[in-house]
Amino acid sequence: MSVMRTKSIEQTIREGDEPEYQLKKKLTALDLTVFGVGVVIGAGIFTVAGRAANQVAGPAVILSFIIAALCCGLAALCYAEFASAIPVSGSAYTFSYASLGEIVAWIIGWDLLLELLLGASVVAQGWSAYLGIFLDHLGITIPESIGYGSSFDLPAFLLVAVLTVLVSVGIKESMRVNMALVALKVFIVLFVIFAGIGYINRDNYSPFIPPAQASESKSTMESPLIEWALGYTPSHFGALGIMAGASLVFFAYIGFDVVATTAEEAKNPARDLPRGIIGSLIICTILYCATALVLTGMVKYTELEAAGSLAGAFEQVGRPGYATLISAGAVAGLTTVVMTLIIGASRVVFAMSRDWLLPASIGKVNPKTGTPLKITVALGTLIALTAALTPVGKLEYMINIGTLSAFFLVSIAVPVLRKRRPDFHRPFKVPFSPFLPWLSAAICGYLMLTLPVETWLRFLIWLALGFLIYFLYSYKNSRLAGRTDPQDSGLPSMTST
Ligand code: ALA
Repeated sequence: MSVMRTKSIEQTIREGDEPEYQLKKKLTALDLTVFGVGVVIGAGIFTVAGRAANQVAGPAVILSFIIAALCCGLAALCYAEFASAIPVSGSAYTFSYASLGEIVAWIIGWDLLLELLLGASVVAQGWSAYLGIFLDHLGITIPESIGYGSSFDLPAFLLVAVLTVLVSVGIKESMRVNMALVALKVFIVLFVIFAGIGYINRDNYSPFIPPAQASESKSTMESPLIEWALGYTPSHFGALGIMAGASLVFFAYIGFDVVATTAEEAKNPARDLPRGIIGSLIICTILYCATALVLTGMVKYTELEAAGSLAGAFEQVGRPGYATLISAGAVAGLTTVVMTLIIGASRVVFAMSRDWLLPASIGKVNPKTGTPLKITVALGTLIALTAALTPVGKLEYMINIGTLSAFFLVSIAVPVLRKRRPDFHRPFKVPFSPFLPWLSAAICGYLMLTLPVETWLRFLIWLALGFLIYFLYSYKNSRLAGRTDPQDSGLPSMTST
């Protein structure tokens, strides 16, 4: 049997109906959009926007946001085509299993795990930072030895622990909490936009695209792969600064793809998934561009805090009260991001274990909660420990490379599947295929090349680990390996209830 074996779409959908592995179909288009906005708006806008303006793009950071949105928009169309046609848990992993072959599917699943596990950990750390700022404003100080940036970040650990319990209890329940927190978060972002308009000074927009400057010498490891490979001198600002800004603020859009991981829990996936995925991306793009415009109008880009917090900008214009409110909003906002990333990670592992690429017994749905309980608890523990123990600022680029590689492969998968299965019903289709999917893959590939050399090395190590597990375990135990009696391999029967 080849590692390029594919699972038919019909088989994929049939397996999703097996009682032991069935998730509850409860989510509406509104739930999915809220879910998307909940996971997308987070540390990216609250901190990274200001940093990108200050360090690489100037007021033209709004163009960086538009370019990153374009990249994500094209990928979103590809995700929407797949998610509506194959409404099965597992997102890009499941789509590529049906089109590109098992080993590619495995690697995509492995990349998605990188995105989701590290994403949840990093945003939990960001949450801990904002909690510290917020409590400081209230005159309460978290002891340094257990706070943000310490050797054991207790607030980040506790946040993940509580959220893991919450998402283990059931998806509808977690959606309800999500809905309230997302409403608060959107209110805070709108507050920043409308309260900030009054403080805009037009002079701050000039120069809109600051002239390019050579950046201080970076080590080989820190240089973008493309600049290192082509022997360019790294620079910032100017036109290239806008592109560098795009790969930095790309982080802010990460998460809309997570909507596709809950495909199986949607009531009417063919109609609602494209709406949820594209709708949440449009809402976030509008909010981001408006926020970037206000932020760079309020404070000169050279004077924006390097940490770039939106709260900091209001302190700079003499509004500390607003800063307190915004940091409270960030605490609420980042909570939903972490929660949704935990759900996404558990659904990807769930799909892999249902295909027996990981032990099938861990993927069973708990009859009371209707969620894959064992996986959720195991991943929650891993995320909590990573968030608590990893030094801050080490993992962000890894998240971007994991996500971009998944987008890249999904974009390629669209025309491949159209060719292999032209007969298959696609309720939503990417327009101008194969041109748009290829363009999407090209932009994702380019943004990957702008990531640092060290990120690529770490990514290659992660991939090597993935291949090792695949060849030592998954290849032999996969459902497609032809094992008809799972009891022989110690795996649970898929037919008994
Ligand atoms: N898009 C998410 C954020 O900005 C990951 O926090």
